[in-house]
Amino acid sequence: MGRKLLLDKAHIEGIRYYDVYRKNGGYAAAEKALKSMSPDQVTEEVKKSGMRGRGGAGFPTGLKWSFLAKPEGVPRYLVCNADESEPGTFKDRYLMEFLPHLLIEGLLISSFALGANTTYIYIRGEYAWIPDILEEAIAEAHKNGWLGKNIQGSGFDLNIYVQRGAGAYICGEETALIESLEGKRGTPRIKPPFPAVKGLYQCPTVVNNVETLAAIVPIINIGGDEYAKIGIGKSAGTKLISACGNLNKPGVYEIEMNISVEEFIYSDEYCGGIPNGKRLKACIPGGSSVPIVPANLLLTTAKGEKRMMTYESLNDGGFATGTMMGSGGFIVLDEDQCVVRHTLSLARFYHHESCGQCSPCREGTGWMEKVLKNIEHGKGKMSDIDLLWDIQRKIEGNTICPLGDAAAWPVAAAIRHFRDEFEWHVLHPDEAQRRNFGLAHYADPLPVAAAV
Ligand SMILES: Cc1cc2nc3c(=O)[nH]c(=O)nc-3n(C[C@H](O)[C@H](O)[C@H](O)COP(=O)(O)O)c2cc1C
Repeated sequence: MGRKLLLDKAHIEGIRYYDVYRKNGGYAAAEKALKSMSPDQVTEEVKKSGMRGRGGAGFPTGLKWSFLAKPEGVPRYLVCNADESEPGTFKDRYLMEFLPHLLIEGLLISSFALGANTTYIYIRGEYAWIPDILEEAIAEAHKNGWLGKNIQGSGFDLNIYVQRGAGAYICGEETALIESLEGKRGTPRIKPPFPAVKGLYQCPTVVNNVETLAAIVPIINIGGDEYAKIGIGKSAGTKLISACGNLNKPGVYEIEMNISVEEFIYSDEYCGGIPNGKRLKACIPGGSSVPIVPANLLLTTAKGEKRMMTYESLNDGGFATGTMMGSGGFIVLDEDQCVVRHTLSLARFYHHESCGQCSPCREGTGWMEKVLKNIEHGKGKMSDIDLLWDIQRKIEGNTICPLGDAAAWPVAAAIRHFRDEFEWHVLHPDEAQRRNFGLAHYADPLPVAAAV
């Protein structure tokens, strides 16, 4: 059984409420930090833990905190990124819905370390029922002296506010989020300056993911050194994975980053294998933006070793043979799934969500969707596959924010690994169209050379 640091108490009835959370060891880490540590000591523990941000990019959290500018007389802000709009990713929702006090405790400790007296939780609009849960927990924390003025006699003041977004994927990008929080249209800012220097209201700001901030609690409880011992190398600690697609047991799992991908998919402790004994075809292990990998490359690295659920192992071989941990949205496709249709669905999403600020992304995402639609509908040409490749290459790296890359990578990886499937659609237009109109299910033979 893997060690659980975030979800260890998730099964306790009523853990959402203050009294139950407190009775089960809640706010002990906050007590420790506020009463026996300095803000710098807290940051030092987070650095020692080696924990990397859980929002997708995997940047070390302690290091990020140490970049925060601290000019005299200027307020600093902590912003909790709860936008979670990446298809396949739903781990933050789980934390907020079932363990709101874990997040509030993490926010309190982090705000103390950063010297922020005002903290915002920016939550995606579609999570309509969660702000009420968070606001209820915030009110309980106030009532019990964990928020407000002079918290537990420490002299530290903190208020937490919940801000609902209107439902835009781009508002998960930290500078677009800040713009939106300021009441403007959510478009990414050009960096530098980075938020650590000029963020919210032009003041020094740290933006961290929900899971990152919740993980501060166990880091302070067990100590940075102990936390760093869990996992492998630079993949320290535990990670929440939201698993979906063709799995017997989809859901949110907390894993120690030392298990293999095979164990995660097939063992009963986690996803319990693929329904109806079907073969694994492919997987997108880190949310919709990361490259899709066929089964053989998913389970084994370029070096012929078992691929592990770590940042390094998932990326082994770069994008040619690997993928990314990303946000931990683990999407599994069985042998019946059509990669072309799947890629079209993602292209449609990125086209819809592009903020339109940069031409390569604004125009390129729509163009890719159009070309993919033609191929999927049996109206494609062989040259369209090269055209798609060309468009995605012209988007990648040519936009202000990484949404362009996020739109390009799934298309690039799908063509790289499943070109035969694209060609099949071009060569069998009638069959492709028949499938498209739902006259046949994908149980019909598709090229599944990659499936194991
Ligand atoms: C288009 C786009 C969407 C993003 N969405 C999210 C999101 O929903 N949640 C999140 O934590 N980070 C998201 N990020 C990453 C954030 O910009 C930022 O890196 C992250 O919040 C930092 O937190 P961390 O250091 O704790 O990982 C997104 C980035 C991009 C480019």
